[in-house]
Amino acid sequence: MSNPPVCDYEGSDYQDSFWGGGMREYEDRAEAIALKRLLPKNGKLLLELGAGAGRNTLRYAGFERVVLLDYSRTQLEQARQRLGDEARYTYVAADIYKMPFVDGLFDAATMIRTLHHMADAPLALRNVRNVLQPGAVFILEYANKLNLKAILRYLLKKQAWSPFSLEPVEFEALNFDFHPQAVRGWLKELDFKLERQLTVSHFRMRFLKRLFPAGFLAWLDSLASLTGGLWQLSPSVFTRSTAGEIGEVAAEGAFFKCPQCGNAVLEKGVEMLVCAGCGSRWAVRDGIYDFKEAIN
Ligand SMILES: C[S@@+](CC[C@H](N)C(=O)[O-])C[C@H]1O[C@@H](n2cnc3c(N)ncnc32)[C@H](O)[C@@H]1O
Repeated sequence: MSNPPVCDYEGSDYQDSFWGGGMREYEDRAEAIALKRLLPKNGKLLLELGAGAGRNTLRYAGFERVVLLDYSRTQLEQARQRLGDEARYTYVAADIYKMPFVDGLFDAATMIRTLHHMADAPLALRNVRNVLQPGAVFILEYANKLNLKAILRYLLKKQAWSPFSLEPVEFEALNFDFHPQAVRGWLKELDFKLERQLTVSHFRMRFLKRLFPAGFLAWLDSLASLTGGLWQLSPSVFTRSTAGEIGEVAAEGAFFKCPQCGNAVLEKGVEMLVCAGCGSRWAVRDGIYDFKEAIN
C-alpha cells in the first residue's frame, strides 16, 4: 500500500471515554504488568509509537528520554498536560508510515494498541525497524484474531471470518485483529529476534469484571500470561523482540529527518524546522513538533 489510510484520533476523547470510568482498570493493570516484565530496566532513548494521551508513558521511567509519537495533535496535547514539559519528553505529531527520524536512532520502542489501526502492518513495522539501532528492544502489542471468543463464535457460526486464517481481519473500519503467526512472520522478515510473548487480557468479560476486583483479575491474568510462549488465545498479545545486528547507529547529534525528502538537516526557524534539502517547513508549536503536513 503506497499511502495507507490513517485512523484519525484528532479531537477524540479516547482517554476519558475508553479508559475513564473504571471499567477498563483490569486491562490497564494487566498491561502494566506485561510492560514491567518485558521492558529493560533502563535505557537511553525510547520511542512510544501511537502514544495517545500518554497512558503508558510513566511506565518508561527507566529511560533517560522518551519520544511520544502520535498522528493526533490533540492526543499529544493531552499527553503533554498529563506529563508536563520536562526535557525528558519530546512530543511529535507524525504518521508512522512517514517517520520523521533518522535511521538507527532509538535503543527501544513500544507500540501498544496501535498496530490495531495499521492497514499496512508490515510497512508500519518496517518503518519502526529502520529507526531502531541494532540490538534495540521492541515491545509490540497486537490484537489477536485467534482469541477464544472469536474461535467459539466461528465454530457456532455466529461469525463469518475465520480466526484460523493468517490474513488480518478488519472488524470495523481501520480496526484490525492479527494472527499471531502472521505477526511473528513479519517480525522475522524484518530481522527482529522474538524473545518473549505474553498473552494479556484473558478475562476481558463484563460479568467477570463486575464480579471480581480489577487487581485480582490482573493478578490471575499475569499467571495465565506466562503460557504466552506456548499458545496465544487471548485478545491481546505482548511481544518482546530485539533488532538484529544489520543496520546502522544514527550519527551523533542526528535526530529528525524530513518526512518529505528524507534529508536529515533541519534548520531551526521561528516556531518551525526548515528542511535544508527540499525547503519544507515543519511547525513546532506549543511544545509539539508537527510533521503531519508541511506549512505552506
Ligand atoms: C487506541 S490508541 C492507543 C493509545 C496508547 N498507545 C494507549 O495504549 O493508551 C491508538 C493511537 O494510535 C494513533 N495512531 C493511529 N494511526 C497512527 C499512525 N498512522 N501514525 C501515528 N499514530 C497513529 C492514534 O492517534 C491513537 O492515539
